[in-house]
Amino acid sequence: NPVEDLKGKNVLITAGPTREWIDPVRFISNPSSGKMGYALAKSASERGANVTLISGPVSIEKPTGMSNFVKVETAEEMYNEVVKVVDSQDIVIKTAAVGDYRPKSKSDIKLKKSNSKVSLELEPNADILFNIGNNKKENQIFVGFAAETNDVIEEGKKKLIKKNLDLIVVNDVTEVGAGFQSETNIIKIIDKEKNVKEFPMDTKENLSNIIIDEIVNLLK
Ligand code: PMT
Repeated sequence: NPVEDLKGKNVLITAGPTREWIDPVRFISNPSSGKMGYALAKSASERGANVTLISGPVSIEKPTGMSNFVKVETAEEMYNEVVKVVDSQDIVIKTAAVGDYRPKSKSDIKLKKSNSKVSLELEPNADILFNIGNNKKENQIFVGFAAETNDVIEEGKKKLIKKNLDLIVVNDVTEVGAGFQSETNIIKIIDKEKNVKEFPMDTKENLSNIIIDEIVNLLK
């Protein structure tokens, strides 16, 4: 049995993609399967935490032992659900792949097909982690993820600072065995002092325990 080193801690985890609807039958999304976030939720719960899991649409099974499980579709819905619970959390881990943009307007009826070119106007979604990170309370620990394709460590450091995080987990989603959908990931964990820890390819389950170990170290 795992050590209950998160016993009594409230942990919020977001997972999966968001969907930004164009019309009733079409949306913009990304390939997130929820595996990384759900593995973290399972690990945190096994280690004694009260876990709130806020999840975008995924096809994997909900982990057992959640205190609170909330399903959302859009980035805006995820934002609203996060804001409702964030103040009571000791730890927030934002694994979700949140859509940065949404269609400026959603059509209530299915857009008809034609042979002419169409263009879609997009507007930015609010950055959930930026907003909650910059309102973080003294005793809270916030962990972000960064899905990158280039300059992975530099981009990760920028996001850590901008979003006022304690740790950021970066993954190069172009690497084989890393990122979206795979059973494994290849991660680097960066802390506020800009220390970078690199880990070899491992299952998302094992890496979740490593990420939680790093968080537990910050609690001490
Ligand atoms: O779900 P899997 O298939 O297992 O894949 C795992 C993963 C690749 C999705 C995961 O490891 C990962 O990298 N998650 C973060 C994806 C992402 O959106 O990264 P980003 O660099 O665009 O965002 C940086 C951080 O800001 C993230 O913590 C994100 O949750 C947060 N964010 C981003 C945009 C936004 N509008 N609001 C946010 O809170």
